[in-house]
Amino acid sequence: MPRLGVNIDHVATLRQARGGKLPDPVYAAYLAEQAGCDSIVAHLREDRRHIQDEDLRLLRRKVGTALNMEMSIAPEILKICLRVRPDQSTLVPEKRKELTTEGGLDVEGNFKPVSKAVEKLEASGIAVSLFIDPEKKQIAAAKRSGARIIELHTGRYSAAKSSSQKEEYFKQIESAVDYAAGLGLAVNAGHGLDYSNVKKIAEIRGIEELNIGYAIICKALYVGLFAAVKEMKELIGKC
Ligand code: PXP
Repeated sequence: MPRLGVNIDHVATLRQARGGKLPDPVYAAYLAEQAGCDSIVAHLREDRRHIQDEDLRLLRRKVGTALNMEMSIAPEILKICLRVRPDQSTLVPEKRKELTTEGGLDVEGNFKPVSKAVEKLEASGIAVSLFIDPEKKQIAAAKRSGARIIELHTGRYSAAKSSSQKEEYFKQIESAVDYAAGLGLAVNAGHGLDYSNVKKIAEIRGIEELNIGYAIICKALYVGLFAAVKEMKELIGKC
């Protein structure tokens, strides 16, 4: 059964809508941990649209499972990461105008800066994961960069409109997991996963962790965060 990482960015999105203190992403992280998640994911974006520097500092102090900082490789953000020292850093591409992380990191096309960032972070004891599309060339480049972990982008699978498309994207993920595991990489997955589509992905042998945010935070509005995380954890636990 894969581990569950809960992404709390959208708790901060709601707080930023009014610029006040509530809802508090640090308290949300506490509730998610109480409900059984295995790590907390927070993305400090360059535009600071949700998580703020102070959130990250507090999360580092309060998170008792593992803190996974999602981030770009911008020098300013790298510096912050080296200061905060999360347990893991997940490198993602970032575009100002995107609604969410729309594609994987092009490790092959940006090999030099990405591998430099991997080297810096690993040298300071922070495990690095690269968020990439389920493609052989990106997986091979991730391996060459020195990263030990990859997170496969499940967005295309999650957003597929027809069942034949869904099956095609699912197969891509399945063979990407096989290929990456064969290279000795730890394989995680995430993006767009929800209560109805998570099971198929969680059942792929070799996936070690799923990182889920939006669906859990949306469900939490109706049932509370504790119940929403617990339900997702139980769903994954049945796989
Ligand atoms: N993993 C990564 C690397 C992400 O960028 C995101 C989105 O912030 C997620 C997982 C979670 O995606 P979602 O919010 O769609 O569950």
